[in-house]
Amino acid sequence: MTKTILRALAGETLPTPPIWMMRQAGRYLPEYRATRAQAGDFLSLCYNPELAAEVTLQPIRRYGFDAAILFADILLLPQALGADLWFVTGEGPRLSTITDKSGLEALKPIDEIDEVLNPVYETVRILSRELPSETTLIGFAGAPWTVATYMIAGRGTPDQGPAHALKNTDRATFSALIDLLTDATVEYLSKQIDAGAEVVKIFDSWAGSLQGQDFIDFAVEPARKITAALKQRHPNTPVIAFPRGAGEKYVGLHAAIGADCIALDDGVTPEWAAANVQTGGCVQGNLKSSHMVTGGEDLIRETRAVVDAFKGGPHIFNLGHGITPDASPDNVQLMIDTVRSGA
Ligand code: CP3
Repeated sequence: MTKTILRALAGETLPTPPIWMMRQAGRYLPEYRATRAQAGDFLSLCYNPELAAEVTLQPIRRYGFDAAILFADILLLPQALGADLWFVTGEGPRLSTITDKSGLEALKPIDEIDEVLNPVYETVRILSRELPSETTLIGFAGAPWTVATYMIAGRGTPDQGPAHALKNTDRATFSALIDLLTDATVEYLSKQIDAGAEVVKIFDSWAGSLQGQDFIDFAVEPARKITAALKQRHPNTPVIAFPRGAGEKYVGLHAAIGADCIALDDGVTPEWAAANVQTGGCVQGNLKSSHMVTGGEDLIRETRAVVDAFKGGPHIFNLGHGITPDASPDNVQLMIDTVRSGA
């Protein structure tokens, strides 16, 4: 029997949508916090295949989600390309910055990234052995624009200002960085698939700050190129694209990117997305993640609303963004029960 996630990705409308959750392995779970403490810091956990596989499996054991997502981070790829990377507790990631052509030229060649990324492929191999037979293994990478925003600013930024500035003042360097990340991402995801990833997802968390032609050139086009290159090497591996914050620009993206599924954030209503995006293929999403903090009747009502809106076509139930550390594990169970009860 084909796994439910793969059936939805192939375009099948299922009576109950398969379900998984962004950041399902994370700080809201006590067992994650214990393993992370054992590993030391976050990056040590990412590069420890046994422990990274363990935290990937924890939400599968606890909840029986239909998919497991590889435990890693989108910023491991820039690190493999030679950027310094560290995480400041309570604040987030820090990287060495790329501000001009010389910074770009100092990066390593793509054929050297596996020296750093081999432990990630090992995590994938462990997971493909240990996951239950009905659970789909999802690999992932950041989209070039989103990864570039961190590499240029050296940290997360509210408006991606430094990346926009480089794009507008030194287009050649900016475009060369996007092209390098596009090619590196193809190699990275292709290796994850070789190791056992059954689906890959491209996270473009900051796509929403690109407007007009920039959205086409730096969100749609890199995702299209990555998807096309992967389809050539791995024709049967579905691709999920997540251009978060795309809003009305979500329309037509299945065709424009060539992706099997478009993941939706909570900035669009499920009713609008069913009428305007799901017509193009499978969609994933998009319950507001704050319901995992607040729970109760609101959670039940809004979960049902998402399921109902998308029930006429292929749908994978998920949140609109990652679950937050202050979420309650019981609320996650309530969401899953609500989706699966089909009420
Ligand atoms: O979803 C999963 O369970 C798989 C693992 C995963 C992580 N990060 C683990 C993580 C995935 C898919 C990501 C993607 C990621 N990482 C994105 C894109 C998705 C999104 O959330 O928009 C981005 C922008 C990053 C970069 C990143 N990593 C930031 C900005 C931070 C700090 C913010 C925070 O939540 O602490 C991280 C850290 C991070 N990545 C954590 C986890 C579980 C928390 C680290 C910890 O345990 O202390």
